[in-house]
Amino acid sequence: MNFDQELQKKVNEIEDILNKFIPREEGSQKLIMSAMNYSLMAGGKRLRPMLMEQTYLLFGGQNRTILEPFMAAIEMIHTYSLVHDDLPAMDNDEYRRGRKTTHVVYGEAMGILAGDGLLNYAFETAVKAFDHIPELATEQQLVIYKNIAWAMRVLAGKAGIYGMIGGQVIDMEGSKGTPSRSRLDHMYRLKTGALIEASMMIGAILAGAGSLYADKVEQIAGDIGLAFQIRDDILDVTSTPEMLGKPILSDEKNDKTTYMTLMDLVSAENEVARISNRAIQAYEALPHQNEFLRKLILKLINRAY
Ligand code: IPE
Ligand code: IPE
Ligand code: MG
Ligand code: MG
Ligand code: MG
Repeated sequence: MNFDQELQKKVNEIEDILNKFIPREEGSQKLIMSAMNYSLMAGGKRLRPMLMEQTYLLFGGQNRTILEPFMAAIEMIHTYSLVHDDLPAMDNDEYRRGRKTTHVVYGEAMGILAGDGLLNYAFETAVKAFDHIPELATEQQLVIYKNIAWAMRVLAGKAGIYGMIGGQVIDMEGSKGTPSRSRLDHMYRLKTGALIEASMMIGAILAGAGSLYADKVEQIAGDIGLAFQIRDDILDVTSTPEMLGKPILSDEKNDKTTYMTLMDLVSAENEVARISNRAIQAYEALPHQNEFLRKLILKLINRAY
């Protein structure tokens, strides 16, 4: 199997996991379940759960029943962030993952509620990990309980005002003026980096890697996130809606300062390469290696969609 085939296989496996956890579309409030599932199951690269799983495997994790609720949860939080990012009050975009955006199909109120629903349901899903503590000696069980609680804390923090939401706030404020490079980097590390950090850290934490390696993984993931967002800026200018499944020139429409307004294309490409090389070097210094993960990091930074 070549890398692209392996990638597709893993995307399919992640969609099977999502399907296990999505809410059933039933009851008097079934409209919101349907709007949540519409955005969640629309496709997407599924990078965050994939990075979580690969980092878990990297550190020798073996209990998938504890990992899977977190894989689903991170994709729910990421998807909610996109549903809200596309709202008229934010980036006002009409296509996402190759479909009309949630608010276009279900209306703005339901777009807001579906985002809220996904965020909350992510935590309802993640706590299910506690249902799968194996039969072990009490001290060993306690370690697993503590790691799940730690992973919950990382998930909550990285999604919140000190993480992704904080980055979106700076993004919204930034459209009023020209942010400096350092402010832009700070914004990217939060709005995009934080959920990628959470993904890889939770993989490491649940595998029992401990705080030293959780910190190292956070740094690597932060650089991956920064490079990933600069690539997103580039693609907003150089790609096509067919390739991306979302509109191009959204940043220009919204008068956003991005790497493409701060510098020319070649310099932005060089920054992506410089930051991703730093991530790869730090990754290669870890005590374990996983060839698929190394290729995945390179692929997502150099991606064409
Ligand atoms: C889009 O994320 C938003 C950014 C952080 C740039 P992805 O590019 O991972 O979107 P999907 O999940 O594949 O749709
Ligand atoms: C990242 O920024 C979005 C989130 C963190 C939700 P963008 O606004 O550039 O993402 P796209 O281009 O709409 O996917
Ligand atoms: Mg945005
Ligand atoms: Mg956007
Ligand atoms: Mg963008």
